[in-house]
Amino acid sequence: MSKTILVTGGAGFIGSNYCRYVLQKYPDYRVVILDALTYAGNLSTIADMQNDPATSERVRFYPGKIQDETVVNGIIEAEQVDTIVNFAAESHNDRSILEPGSFIQTDVYGVYVLLDAVKRHGLTRMVHVSTDEVYGTIDNGQFTEKSPIEPNTPYSAAKAGGEMQVRAHVITYGTPAIITRCGNNYGAYQYPEKLIPFFVTRLLDNKKVPLYGAGNQVRDWVYVLDHCAGIDKVLHEGTIGEAYNIGSEGERTNLEITHALLRLLNRPESLIKTIPDPRGGAHDKRYSVNADKLRALGWKPAYDFDTTLEQTVRWYADNQSWWREITAKPDYQAFIARFYGRYLGEDL
Ligand code: NAD
Ligand code: DAU
Repeated sequence: MSKTILVTGGAGFIGSNYCRYVLQKYPDYRVVILDALTYAGNLSTIADMQNDPATSERVRFYPGKIQDETVVNGIIEAEQVDTIVNFAAESHNDRSILEPGSFIQTDVYGVYVLLDAVKRHGLTRMVHVSTDEVYGTIDNGQFTEKSPIEPNTPYSAAKAGGEMQVRAHVITYGTPAIITRCGNNYGAYQYPEKLIPFFVTRLLDNKKVPLYGAGNQVRDWVYVLDHCAGIDKVLHEGTIGEAYNIGSEGERTNLEITHALLRLLNRPESLIKTIPDPRGGAHDKRYSVNADKLRALGWKPAYDFDTTLEQTVRWYADNQSWWREITAKPDYQAFIARFYGRYLGEDL
């Protein structure tokens, strides 16, 4: 059966990749993007889908915030939406340390507005895209979906708050919602503040890259299209009220990632600038999730890390107009100067 999916945050990194994935995989599905176009959302990120004759009729864009119930309910009625996949969020840990308020507005209150709209309009399903960070950090072993929720940063605490709203709405109202918790994504169209695109874009310009502390934190790196496939699996075959981990068993330290990027771009080790950890005690040492529950539905990671990392680096090298438009903006430069200025000094 065809679907009309409201993709909130669809002009951001993972949301836009998900829209592309859906439009390609399901020729009879429509996607309706609602995005506030914060610093992290860009119309240039979705222009290809809007301009391609194969998809342009099946993609609509609306500017607006998920906290705005008039906007959300109006779009659902006008577009006859039956499903919501929620990517909209303030998503960067470092920014959450500087200014946590907007994270609560979007990542908690915004989720409530969407859940309320699902109930009000009798939508068939909502997938809430959460994160493995809600579990906090783990030295050994892996988190399962039954592990306690113990977030450590204002970002992950806000995401955990959104999840609690989902849980309560499922239990209280029978709202047909499901949660996913994925590890660190990489791929095309990622905003150049996150580790991989930040470092790649700087290295392309022969600038130093700020590695936090010894660079020994571990993340489970998931290629963005594996994440999209996991969400797709959960949307069609997941059980309402459940949460599903999405992980690739792709654990690497930040130092390993940095060395891989230097190798791929043929840049010298001297471009690594080790800086005192700006996240301090809030810097989670290791994320690792067990994804057996999702694997039992038939999902497994399809992409090789080394190949997709190389493709990602090449994408940034080949699409410089996309990210240079962002890095040239005063708000981008202000954030980089505010967060890294005292560490990078003249290397900024
Ligand atoms: P992103 O920051 O690249 O994109 C977020 C998008 O949401 C942007 O387009 C932004 O304009 C939009 N947005 C922000 N506030 C909004 C609001 N109030 N109303 C409507 N739109 C709003 O983020 P991303 O990396 O693509 O992450 C997408 C989702 O996936 C987030 O919920 C994040 O928590 C989750 N997630 C991300 C990762 C990762 O590694 N990036 C991993 C697991 C889960
Ligand atoms: O685990 C999923 C999460 O992954 C998502 O929920 C978040 O939205 C996403 O931003 C990401 O969070 P991280 O904080 O792990 O990602 P980030 O790319 O900011 O940092 C990855 C690691 O690299 C982290 O240990 C901090 C380190 N780092 C990051 C930057 C930006 C550096 O050493 N230097 C840097 O300049």
